[in-house]
Amino acid sequence: MIMSKLNPLSEPCTYVIFGATGHLSRTKLLPALYHLEADKHLPEGTKILCVSRTDWSTESWRSEVRNMIESRVRGGLDDSVFQRFAERLSYLPGNLQHDDVYQKLSQELASNGRLPSNAAYYMALRPAEFGTVIQKLGESGLIDDQHGWRRVVIEKPFGSDLESAQILQTKLHRYLREDQIYRIDHYLGKGTVQNILVFRFANVMMEPLWNRNYIDHVQITHSETAGIEGRAQFYDQAGALRDMVQSHLLQLMTLVAMEPPANMDAEALRDEKVKVLKSIRPISKNSVRAQSFRAQYSSGMVDGQNVAGYLDEKGVEPNSATETYSAHKFYIDNWRWRDVPFYLRTGKRMAESKSAISIRFKQPPQQLFRNTVIEKLKPDWILLGIQPSECVRIEMQVKQPGFTMLPRSISLDASITDKDAPQLDAYEGLLLDVIEGDQSLFLRYDEVEWAWRVVDPILRVWSTERDYIHTYQAGTWGPQETRRLFDREDQFWRHSLDPNEEQAS
Ligand code: BG6
Repeated sequence: MIMSKLNPLSEPCTYVIFGATGHLSRTKLLPALYHLEADKHLPEGTKILCVSRTDWSTESWRSEVRNMIESRVRGGLDDSVFQRFAERLSYLPGNLQHDDVYQKLSQELASNGRLPSNAAYYMALRPAEFGTVIQKLGESGLIDDQHGWRRVVIEKPFGSDLESAQILQTKLHRYLREDQIYRIDHYLGKGTVQNILVFRFANVMMEPLWNRNYIDHVQITHSETAGIEGRAQFYDQAGALRDMVQSHLLQLMTLVAMEPPANMDAEALRDEKVKVLKSIRPISKNSVRAQSFRAQYSSGMVDGQNVAGYLDEKGVEPNSATETYSAHKFYIDNWRWRDVPFYLRTGKRMAESKSAISIRFKQPPQQLFRNTVIEKLKPDWILLGIQPSECVRIEMQVKQPGFTMLPRSISLDASITDKDAPQLDAYEGLLLDVIEGDQSLFLRYDEVEWAWRVVDPILRVWSTERDYIHTYQAGTWGPQETRRLFDREDQFWRHSLDPNEEQAS
């Protein structure tokens, strides 16, 4: 939601959730829709039709939804809000491989049907199912937007490599125009992520420093204490590189690195992001080892609990070499960034759940304090905390009070949200953007394709090396060996945003 807030005159629509009983729908979509209900953001008359194989009646489904979202909603479930929300919900059981589901759907969405004719189809499905479902929607006339708009929301990963993404895209374009396709990357809906654009382009102080002359390197980290949460069927095939790096982390990198767009329109913004992806130095087969590192968690202790290793998770192949930790060094070959390393890392079952962008500045050109007790100054940093709390911090050096020339790092903190204020979930804004027809925070196909071009060489090499994978103990910051990615001895992974707590590795 870059340019607009919900237009109060938005027309009612039907959100159709395919795969409504699955993990994404339970943990993200239904809670987000409930929050939109609570904040009165859903246009009057909007309905939510949940489609899945299990045989629920609408009534029993409503109580199931209540149970599934109860522990996830902010401030506890409110009965009167849930009552309103439940009235919007209905359930359609069916197998998406069979035509009868689509026939029933057509009747429901027809101009004289029970549900609003404007429809957003949310593909909360396994990626392998996207193509067939779109084909069946297309063949049943359900994408035809004569009597109301029809949009499709596609979850990542879009394909599993460059070739499969191209095949999927060809299939989609047989039935859909680009303006009907919403390729979601929920990271673009997070508060700090959108704030990167404001921080960079609404302040004149940053721009002169935002380049290779002043920036030493950039780190983008997403760590989770959670494991694969029963998603072995998907995750063991995907791994962390496909699941997180190809989408979320590369998107964050484009926002940090992009040039100012001509304006804030979806197309202008996405043009600039694509330019960054196109400028990433291709990783040759021989440089995969120097620029990428993968590992898998073994058993350990997370939040005081013993947890199993990846290979002991239900549904994981006994000899799987799928990575649950993936770290990379990329270079962007353009005037602004040439030779500045961008270090990206993500992992499951890590020491903390945290996402942040840490930008480290170079040392001053002259070491004026060399012969004082200060000797070597600590570098300055800009730290953009994405979660658990949203913040912007600038870390600088000052002299400690007193007679001696002793330095201290201080943090200028421009927290974006009050730490006690409820944090909106990224899906909330994005679900509204779909209703509003705003594609700025969704991926255009060329972004997806160029992101696959970046990671494909790594995937190819890793797919041939199935005999061995490094391990790290669950509950830690990952293996020490990732240090080999750093260009210099004085670079290290930054785990904390607090200068006093900083533990580096
Ligand atoms: C999803 C990945 O896209 O993002 C998950 O498939 C991951 O594996 C999740 O856990 C992380 O999102 P968030 O918003 O919880 O940081």
